[in-house]
Amino acid sequence: MLLCIPDILSPDEVAAFRATLDAADWQDGRMTTGPQSAETKRNAQIPLDSPALPDLQRHLVRALTRNPLWVSAALPAKILPPMFNSYTGGQTFGIHVDNAIRPIPGEGRQMRTDVSCTVFLSDPDDYDGGELIVEGHYGAQAVKLPAGHCVLYPATSLHQVTPVTRGARVASFFWVQSMVRDDARREMLFDLDQSIQSLSARLGLNDSEAVRLTGIYHNLIRQWAEC
Ligand code: NI
Repeated sequence: MLLCIPDILSPDEVAAFRATLDAADWQDGRMTTGPQSAETKRNAQIPLDSPALPDLQRHLVRALTRNPLWVSAALPAKILPPMFNSYTGGQTFGIHVDNAIRPIPGEGRQMRTDVSCTVFLSDPDDYDGGELIVEGHYGAQAVKLPAGHCVLYPATSLHQVTPVTRGARVASFFWVQSMVRDDARREMLFDLDQSIQSLSARLGLNDSEAVRLTGIYHNLIRQWAEC
């Protein structure tokens, strides 16, 4: 499932993120990638030890985990602290697949990447190119969202970022280890949850059918979740 979620960050929050990021030091993005991806990756990233990072990471994770749509879609067990990248002057990231396992910086632990997330921090009018192209069962989908919006998609997908031919495409990217590793199961749970929310809004929280479906939702989580 590829899902776009609006307004993870407000325009004021985006402006504050950008002020911090624009003043920070950047490094070559190939520092955090495997050898195959490094061949096709051309961008800049905020170094993992940058003093600018921890506040931005905390702020963004708080905004994500307060968003019911994001939580329902990702069902997060572990969230990699978000990283930040920038593409300018024709930079691009050719087609690749993300590493399945990543170390969690500073924790000495690893996590599985089930869900890939990008939070856009540039307005689409401020740059040309820079579409995120995600290959799925129904073909390729191009994603370019307003600043503050987020896309999430299965980390199993082949994907690329097309060359940025004008301006700067600044974004946050990170991965989630989901409680439900299988994308098809996550999608069914998301659809069921959204239907329950809409039924409850129409019929009331204590409507007997809505309560029964809520029970099914939680029992499926019991069957499928790994915490
Ligand atoms: Ni990638």
